[in-house]
Amino acid sequence: MKQALKDLASWKVLEKHHQDMKSQSIKDLFSIDPDRGSKLNINAEGIYFDFAKHRIKGTTIELLLQLASERGFEAKRDAMFRGEKINTTENRSVLHTALRSPKNVEIFVDNHNIVPDIHEVLDKMAVFANKIRNGVWKGHTGHDIKNIVNIGIGGSDLGPVMAYEALKYFSQRNLTFRFVSNVDGSDFAEAVQDLNPDETLFIVASKTFTTLETMTNAQTARKWLLEKLGNESAVSKHFAALSTNEKEVAKFGIDTNNMFGFWDWVGGRYSMTSAIGLSTMIAIGPEKYHEMLSGFHAMDEHFRSAPLKQNIPVIMGLLTVWYNNFFDAQTQAVLPYENYLKRFPAYLQQLTMESNGKMVTLDGEKVTYETSPIYWGEPGTNGQHSFYQLIHQGTKIIPCDFIGFKKSLNQLPPHQDYLIANMIAQGEALAFGKTAEEVKMEGTDPNLVPHKVFDGNRPSSTFFLDQLNPSNLGKLVAMYEHSVFVQGVIWDVNPFDQMGVELGKVLAQKIIKDLLEPEISLQHDSSTNALIQFYKAI
Ligand code: F6P
Repeated sequence: MKQALKDLASWKVLEKHHQDMKSQSIKDLFSIDPDRGSKLNINAEGIYFDFAKHRIKGTTIELLLQLASERGFEAKRDAMFRGEKINTTENRSVLHTALRSPKNVEIFVDNHNIVPDIHEVLDKMAVFANKIRNGVWKGHTGHDIKNIVNIGIGGSDLGPVMAYEALKYFSQRNLTFRFVSNVDGSDFAEAVQDLNPDETLFIVASKTFTTLETMTNAQTARKWLLEKLGNESAVSKHFAALSTNEKEVAKFGIDTNNMFGFWDWVGGRYSMTSAIGLSTMIAIGPEKYHEMLSGFHAMDEHFRSAPLKQNIPVIMGLLTVWYNNFFDAQTQAVLPYENYLKRFPAYLQQLTMESNGKMVTLDGEKVTYETSPIYWGEPGTNGQHSFYQLIHQGTKIIPCDFIGFKKSLNQLPPHQDYLIANMIAQGEALAFGKTAEEVKMEGTDPNLVPHKVFDGNRPSSTFFLDQLNPSNLGKLVAMYEHSVFVQGVIWDVNPFDQMGVELGKVLAQKIIKDLLEPEISLQHDSSTNALIQFYKAI
């Protein structure tokens, strides 16, 4: 019989430890050990991870590691890498890590080595991507393809759009990339309004190929294309599909030669290194795409083999548990000081919250503790002039992840120095604040002193890398993927299903009927009925 989280010996010790730690400020901790800045960090895989500005000391990490050990973390991690069916509710392996394995590795699912299949798809993607990039692939009317429109939602959109924005610097600039996800027709209309169908390729990205939003947008795209090009045979030159569902792809009318497959052991939010990455590969080219995969793989290997104390995703994941479950932090901010990472927080929202936003354990028991915090964020300096006020002086504890790079991709002095100075300053201000004494010393009007005090003691991590490039992007994404796994192990939830998205989908289907049929008798609650009636009223 599995022990409940709160009954574990390490949990109980952590509860006591928290009582001690909550009365010690980060400032106190630095006074006790002025050198902690050079101790509480990990420098691995080109990432300098500073976690000294946290409400922890060495013992905290030891205890959190004991908790991980009591939860059987290492065995569970290894089971994932081996391809065991750890997604128990769906009876599936979880092998996004296999997607970035080198060719010579063997990984088995149901006695079948999947690595050759993965590389076959990667090679097919490379041929296709090069044809588009080199103008070899022609549209129906003989034009080069200049516009690539990815149609997908959730994991079939957020990874591609985030990676395109993040790696735009490396992209082929004579190609235009657009991403359509929302079922709101305005998303599609705006994406194509200045595009010429003769030069446009639609990539329909959907693991299931049944998702309402994506299928509706794909049908609209088909209509848009055929209205201008007139001929059904145009579809094969202007549509590609990324999916696990060959039958549905064929039913839609997409030539299955233009289909790039993946497998049920790749979760949607873990799929950006599967065929779902086709738009990324077209944008940056196969070589750079493989550099990105190598970055992912390097972090996978780090996660798999680095000692836990020196393991970036392990420490990250455990720190999240520390604040979430002991300090009652409700949210976690992700603040990239790199404009190209502007969609990174949105990408992480699905990765983290669709994974660990769960209320039952793997055995189906209701949890008696908090699970995933709410992840949110924006590029750093923009946030400073918006919501940072609350992080500094509000009443909530919001652990922050700062992400920065030593070198900018665009050399425009003095921008980079200003940017990084701001990032480092924010972590310092959050941790150490400003006392009333310090404010008074500045000759501040006594009435204003309380308003100008910064309590400090607000925790943050800083992730510092050399420069944003495909490999480093891969490392960062894999780092968060694995920290989510660590959290899931501690909370004993399944990070790989997403049953909480189903009910709304089913009800929407019912309501679509209610909206379309003029005389239907509404069977919902009175509020829902009234909303439907309001919509239908002329
Ligand atoms: O509804 C949630 C979800 O299933 C996500 O997990 C997934 O990434 C997204 O929808 C899109 O699914 P698909 O790729 O099958 O269209």
